[in-house]
Amino acid sequence: MTKNNRLTSVLAAVCCLFSAAAMRPAAEIDSCVTELLGRMTIDEKIGQLNQLSGYGYAPEMVTQIKNGSVGSILNEVDPEVVNRLQYEAVENSRLGIPLIFARDVIHGFKTIFPIPLGQAASWNVDLVEEGARIAADEASSVGIRWTFSPMVDISRDARWGRIAESFGEDPVLSGALGVAMVKGYQGDDLSRPNTMAACAKHFAGYGAAEGGRDYNTTWIPEVQLRDTYLPPFKQAADAGAATFMCSFNDINGVPSSGNRYLLRDILRGEWGYDGLMVSDWGSIQQMIPHGYSTDLRQAALQGVNAGVDVDMESYAYIGHLRELIESGELSESDIDPLVANVLRLKYRLGLFDNPYVDMASASRFYAPASLDAARRAVEESAILLKNDGILPIDNDKVRKIAIVGPMADAQHDQAGTWVFDLEKERCVTPLAALKELYGGSDIRYAAGLEYTRDRKTNGFAEAVKAAAKSDVIIYFAGEEAVLSGEAHCRADLSLPGAQSALLRELKATGKPLVLVVQAGRPLAFADDVALADAVVFCFHGGTMTGPALANLLSGKVNFSGRCPVSFPRMSGQVPVYYAGKNTGRPASGITLIDDIPLEAGQTSTGCTSYYLDAGAGPLFPFGYGLSYTSFTYSEPELSASTLSADGSLTVKCTVTNTGSREGSEVAQLYVRDHVGSLVRPVRELKDFRKITLRPGESRQIEFTIIPSQLAFHVDGAKTVVEPGEFSVWVAPDAQSGTPVQFTFVESSEFASK
Ligand code: BGC
Repeated sequence: MTKNNRLTSVLAAVCCLFSAAAMRPAAEIDSCVTELLGRMTIDEKIGQLNQLSGYGYAPEMVTQIKNGSVGSILNEVDPEVVNRLQYEAVENSRLGIPLIFARDVIHGFKTIFPIPLGQAASWNVDLVEEGARIAADEASSVGIRWTFSPMVDISRDARWGRIAESFGEDPVLSGALGVAMVKGYQGDDLSRPNTMAACAKHFAGYGAAEGGRDYNTTWIPEVQLRDTYLPPFKQAADAGAATFMCSFNDINGVPSSGNRYLLRDILRGEWGYDGLMVSDWGSIQQMIPHGYSTDLRQAALQGVNAGVDVDMESYAYIGHLRELIESGELSESDIDPLVANVLRLKYRLGLFDNPYVDMASASRFYAPASLDAARRAVEESAILLKNDGILPIDNDKVRKIAIVGPMADAQHDQAGTWVFDLEKERCVTPLAALKELYGGSDIRYAAGLEYTRDRKTNGFAEAVKAAAKSDVIIYFAGEEAVLSGEAHCRADLSLPGAQSALLRELKATGKPLVLVVQAGRPLAFADDVALADAVVFCFHGGTMTGPALANLLSGKVNFSGRCPVSFPRMSGQVPVYYAGKNTGRPASGITLIDDIPLEAGQTSTGCTSYYLDAGAGPLFPFGYGLSYTSFTYSEPELSASTLSADGSLTVKCTVTNTGSREGSEVAQLYVRDHVGSLVRPVRELKDFRKITLRPGESRQIEFTIIPSQLAFHVDGAKTVVEPGEFSVWVAPDAQSGTPVQFTFVESSEFASK
């Protein structure tokens, strides 16, 4: 309290007086920023652009803070240290400008939610927003007011480890969930102390890394960049994401940290974005190994010119901006807008009013409601991929259960990637939850393998023995957390280690076999799927994975997760995604490798677009997922057979729960533009709705289609809708449904999508 009072008096001298109750109006913030900027020295300005990683209340850091040569700190999560460092900034630096403390809070801070790809499988925007709200409350309780999330990189290559952090392959789904996370983190009023500034990252095209190898180069034609990779970022900007982060990769030869076209022309110019752009960790410096900058000095110059406001851990700005200004290569007015962006964020966060963590309510973790939300998030994100009828496991009939596999009791690994603040003992595993749920049953546990990469088969015998004595086997396989995430890419997408070999031995017992996979990416595991009687796919689910899976396997809760990415049949098939082009020779008459006669003629396999060994299409399509009930869709009805530039169409479809229990279904609206001056994808998701229906209940869903939703880029920012035929589906996944047609009757141009 004393500190706060003292701070207020300092600030009264610094800037206008204000109320701490709500975020100040934009005009007031702008005048405060201008006034403060006018009193800053060059070095103080450069300091605001410098972001460093924290290492406690260390003398060197304290000196830098007092000198005003650091503006924000990442990775400091001890609230007492946060307050002490903040005190040095507020009370002991010349202008008393508060620091921002940042952290990668990617899918929860202490209460860990499913990895973002898992949350995407829920197709539930409200749940995603709720998860982000809880993450913000927990993290801000130790002083973290800036998270480097959401990642809205479109990810169509499961080899890329960071697919785990994404919302998958589709711009519409990713955009909707990115917006939900932004809202959840930032709330209605970013100046409230329990919010965090969101960061839409990585701008842009990072997910298109060649070969799915992290940091690799990307080649993205401008129309594809604008049709596929940029829309979720635009939505995040429109939703008020307070910050953006540029990506590590180069696009078409230009690293993002030096990419003026992307950062200034598109983001600031076309989109009018007035938030803050932070570099990725060391990405300004990395323009040297990229081969784009000769040295750190040039990299700093290129970063400023491109429009990177904050230098995270490259020491390029702090080391070289003064020199660049003195030499005339930059002027002070070049860096003023960058500094203004930093100050504006600090005002928006209310840090000038309220810089400290309130120790009385610090460390708000694991509230019952938060754990409940985390459990629901796993329940809605686990995908039932196959069920021959063995699920749900009926405790009255099935008394003996064998629990096998390296992921059954893997507290650490069920949390997934990017969990720097994980307390693994808080993770409830499937084994623990199933033991509790099936208390009266005879549960035999034998992991068989110690961890997912384990190749030792000496545990197999015990696992097979347990399986042979049971009525059902539940085999928990997957990937350890460390096998996905940043810089953790895989060229082979099968189950690692000897997991498939153990599955085959379990199958040989003849017992019903349920395969539950927890992983950070879709796997290519067609042979494993074929062996199992039921398959559940759960992207790493976090703290409450166990209770959620137990509820689903036992049928207490119904499955409603749907694939946010297409699952490949084989690794070599990637990238595989639903919104591909038809080609001039779409797959037909597929003859697979084992069916080709000896010495068959070269053209006898049909000369169409497919693999001899993997065929065409994915193992499981985008949008797919089963349930304990079943749904039917009526043929969609269009309000008209034509659409004009200023018109709209409604699409109605009745979904019926034809099974015997309540369930949730994700109705997906897809469109195809049959002929274009640039060929269009075979389908594009335009909207979706998750609904819950009682047994026998029908509900009519109504979607609206407006011309701008049909537009595609043809030249820079210009988008068009061309006259011609369109098909529309309302369907349970990207490969099914009955299309209906309409005609777009005139040509139409839009400024941007
Ligand atoms: C990652 C970012 C992350 C940053 C800060 C980088 O390595 O690419 O996504 O926000 O580190 O931790």
